[in-house]
Amino acid sequence: MRPILVTSALPYANGSIHLGHLVEYIQTDIWVRFHKIRGRDCLYFCADDTHGTPIMIRARNEGITPEALVARIHGEHVADFHDFLIGFDHYHSTNSEENKILSEEVYIANREAGHIHTASVMQAYCAKDGLFLPDRFIRGVCPSCGALDQYGDACEVCSATYSPLELKEARCALCGTSPEERASEHYFFKLGDFEPFLREWTRSGALQVQMANKLSEWFEEGLKAWDISRDGPYFGFEIPGAPGKYFYVWLDAPVGYMASSWSYFKQHGIDFDRYWRDPDQVEIYHFIGKDILYFHTLFWPAMLKGAGFRTPTGVFAHGFLTVNGQKMSKSRGTFITARSYLEQLDPEYLRYYYAAKLTKGVDDIDLNLDDFVQRVNADMVGKVVNLASRTAGFIHKHFQGQLSATYPDDQGLFQSFLTEADTIASYYQERDFSKAMRAIMALADRANRFVEEKAPWTLAKEKRMVELQDTCSVALNLFRLLVMQLHPVLPAMAEKTRVFLNLQDINWSTTIVPLAGVTIAPFSPLMVRVDSQKVQAMVQASLATVTPVVDGVKKEEKGETITMETFMGVDLRVARITQAEEVAGADKLLRLLLDVGELGSRTVLAGIRGSYTPGDLLGRMVVLVANLEARKMKFGVSEGMVLAAGDGKGRLSLIGPDEGASPGMRVK
Ligand code: MSP
Ligand code: ZN
Repeated sequence: MRPILVTSALPYANGSIHLGHLVEYIQTDIWVRFHKIRGRDCLYFCADDTHGTPIMIRARNEGITPEALVARIHGEHVADFHDFLIGFDHYHSTNSEENKILSEEVYIANREAGHIHTASVMQAYCAKDGLFLPDRFIRGVCPSCGALDQYGDACEVCSATYSPLELKEARCALCGTSPEERASEHYFFKLGDFEPFLREWTRSGALQVQMANKLSEWFEEGLKAWDISRDGPYFGFEIPGAPGKYFYVWLDAPVGYMASSWSYFKQHGIDFDRYWRDPDQVEIYHFIGKDILYFHTLFWPAMLKGAGFRTPTGVFAHGFLTVNGQKMSKSRGTFITARSYLEQLDPEYLRYYYAAKLTKGVDDIDLNLDDFVQRVNADMVGKVVNLASRTAGFIHKHFQGQLSATYPDDQGLFQSFLTEADTIASYYQERDFSKAMRAIMALADRANRFVEEKAPWTLAKEKRMVELQDTCSVALNLFRLLVMQLHPVLPAMAEKTRVFLNLQDINWSTTIVPLAGVTIAPFSPLMVRVDSQKVQAMVQASLATVTPVVDGVKKEEKGETITMETFMGVDLRVARITQAEEVAGADKLLRLLLDVGELGSRTVLAGIRGSYTPGDLLGRMVVLVANLEARKMKFGVSEGMVLAAGDGKGRLSLIGPDEGASPGMRVK
């Protein structure tokens, strides 16, 4: 079989790894480990994606160089991945010599082949910051629905997309001044040149069905030339022959896949061209999230093709993570970093949970925290570890740790576990991990049924020693096969099991023979139950890191008057109280659940308990300050504030609209 090279998308170096990212790294790692454990030559590469304006700005804000920022984040990312048992063969950086050389090579080869042209474009420029502003650094009023404080590229309220120049009352998100328009010469990659090739590549089986469909839509819309340059100051590589112009981060980012592998190849004496020039010797697969499809299925193969490199064998996209059914949210404490998770919980819980949810499709996957606790405890601890924990003790107590000298009659279980392993392997191969987990748990159920029928605890009481040793020997042999099949998902547990059963390795082979007559090591818990208190602690700790999203706009000086602009910046909305309850331990607070129409629902902690009881409030309409930053209080998070008039002595009177108003309406 041909060797394979696998990559995960390169995480941006301006933030921490979070549980959303980990969907991808865990998915890829399981697939890579599966191949390695089965003896296939497989290499796994990744790197930090270091270039671009956000990283430059963040470094500037921290008063350090981008290089220093990138070095620090690199250390954090490497530690996070290591602790989540992500087994990269090499983790590199796009801000590296290898990446510079290769990016230039890819660019120059495309230029020489006539695939680059230049054109003048109008762009938003902040004179105060001395910077061309990327879309995300411009805020203003949505030209389509009038929502305040929207990004320069798309509105989060009505989902309209537009160019930053169309945004009303546009201002720089860094300093609040209004940007000017400036013309600048940009370099473009002529994607349209590659349409015939891309159409063919799309049909070659490299893509999942849903993705191929998406691409057909893009072909219908027509392939536009891609702007690959940015003006300085920009943290990135200067374009050869174009002083002051830099490669847009998305040009050199995927080249980072090659650079990471090159760095590894140099250390291991492997021929780079064998991997990246010859399409026949090696298979190359990229794992990505569905949000970066365009880059990986159009720009990237086209750039490679244009530069005379081979193109990927396959690109596999996955869906997005939701937590408790919603987008990860800082104010709900569900924006959980890899580190906050690791401070409380075992990484293998999450690896198993994701495996149990992942399919080969691009559907989003949900991490429901209650289900997480329940599922991991039921499957991992209840079904798998339990098999060993309730039989190993007898082997030690009565048989000096020795399994039966010959493998006993097990009603064909061992053999059928091995046969089933082929099916399970094909699920792994197809990235249908949820099917693999279900099939493995069905085997675990069979093994547990066998133990329950034989009832070793009764055999021990009745001193039926041969049967006791045989039953436990069968159970431990089946346990071994289960762990072998779970090995790609649970490498640490597999290693502990290897030591426990005194095995050479726990690689996946279908020529395995049962263990007989061997002495096993004392049993120590291979995995403990998930403690739901720790899950709570993780959510609490994630709340603590709530930070306001946009700074930019200057806080008003304390004074007699405020500007119209400041007042217009307050998003007041009609809301209906759908739930109200007292907050235990807080004699001033009521917890309100509000229906805010198009803005969804909000929880607000209101200091109105002295004036209202929950029963007074149900169904009542109030006015909500909807864009107040979420506040973490001792009793939870308050996502806004309701308006009330006060007499100064503690008597409060809620403000509400007259009849005819409905939730979500704007108050002006
Ligand atoms: N730097 C680019 C990728 C360049 S690849 C040449 C990037 N970085 S990222 O940090 O935003 O995301 C890295 C990967 O994590 C992407 O594949 C992205 O889809 C994935 N995810 C980020 N957030 C995610 C979720 N909430 N859920 C699932 N995957 C997510 O994009
Ligand atoms: Zn500015």
